[in-house]
Amino acid sequence: MKVLVCGGAGYIGSHIVRELTKLNKYEIVVLDNLSTGHTIAVPEGIPVEVGDIRDKQFLEDVFSKHKPTAVFHFSASIEVAQSCVDPLGYYENNVAGTIYLLQAMQKHGAKYFIFSSTAALFGQPERIPIHPDDLSIPVNPYGDTKLAVETMLKWCDQAFGLKYACLRYFNACGADASGDIGEDHTPESHLIPLILQVPLGKREKIFIFGDDYDTEDGSCVRDYVHVTDLATAHILALDYLARENTSNRFNLGSGKGYSVKEIIEAARRVTGHPIPAEIKPRRAGDPATLVASSEKAETVLGWKRQYHSVDDIVRTAWNFHQKHPKGF
Ligand code: UFG
Repeated sequence: MKVLVCGGAGYIGSHIVRELTKLNKYEIVVLDNLSTGHTIAVPEGIPVEVGDIRDKQFLEDVFSKHKPTAVFHFSASIEVAQSCVDPLGYYENNVAGTIYLLQAMQKHGAKYFIFSSTAALFGQPERIPIHPDDLSIPVNPYGDTKLAVETMLKWCDQAFGLKYACLRYFNACGADASGDIGEDHTPESHLIPLILQVPLGKREKIFIFGDDYDTEDGSCVRDYVHVTDLATAHILALDYLARENTSNRFNLGSGKGYSVKEIIEAARRVTGHPIPAEIKPRRAGDPATLVASSEKAETVLGWKRQYHSVDDIVRTAWNFHQKHPKGF
């Protein structure tokens, strides 16, 4: 099957490409505008079409040339704080860009769409763990752009039979076991890579944004899920669409929450560095606790996670950062 991976040079996309190549049954094409992705993260021999999903002519050229059957879609802006400053830029890239992509799919008869969605669409959740059908009221533009696409997909299925899977990640983290690819954002805003900048000598300490939350140790609790496990879920989702010919949506997490302080402790154990930390005020828009119920992904897709301990997850990230102290 021919698959197009939009955003395949980025953090999560490149891990999907890597897992897809291992299976030897997909013909893979990567599309990426390289605004945040890295061509070096794409295995040799995989064609990379460099361009933007907001460019309709570019999409027309890519779809005419490659005629993919399935599309994995990771091309999006992902910074919650930035989305509050530039909501229109976020809607333009994440919603308008996806409209053009879906139009190209419709025109060229691509059948399956695997959508990179987010826990951010649940806003302040009504219960923990969060189930896929729980109420979704995003509290920032980023989450809202992802919800808008999820809603659009429902109508695309109804109108022209597009089969889609929405995969809501909780906190994607870690790196491929090889240490060849991993998380490299500029600027970095995610907790684990920021913590690891301390033992790498790039920052003096880590800031803990708030220790007065209603959680066990007062810091925010999140559900950290390894990027290679996320990659496996995407491939299972494509299998599911091809087998069942029905659309669906899934939450992807570990079912267990860890506080910011616990993650810092894990990084101290893994790196052997004291990693000084300082309490700072709360970051705007952070819910106290976000933990997924991944039960549906496990029962319906047969998803089994390979990484269960945060130490193991942090160890893979540390391996990548030690191999690439300056990033890619
Ligand atoms: N945090 C700190 N110090 C830092 C950075 C983060 O204390 O220097 C805290 C945050 O306040 C939060 C936790 O660490 O409580 C995790 O923060 P991240 O920025 O790593 O991740 P988020 O949970 O904010 O966001 C992630 C993704 C989003 C996605 C969201 C869904 O980055 O794209 O999960 O829950 F929308």
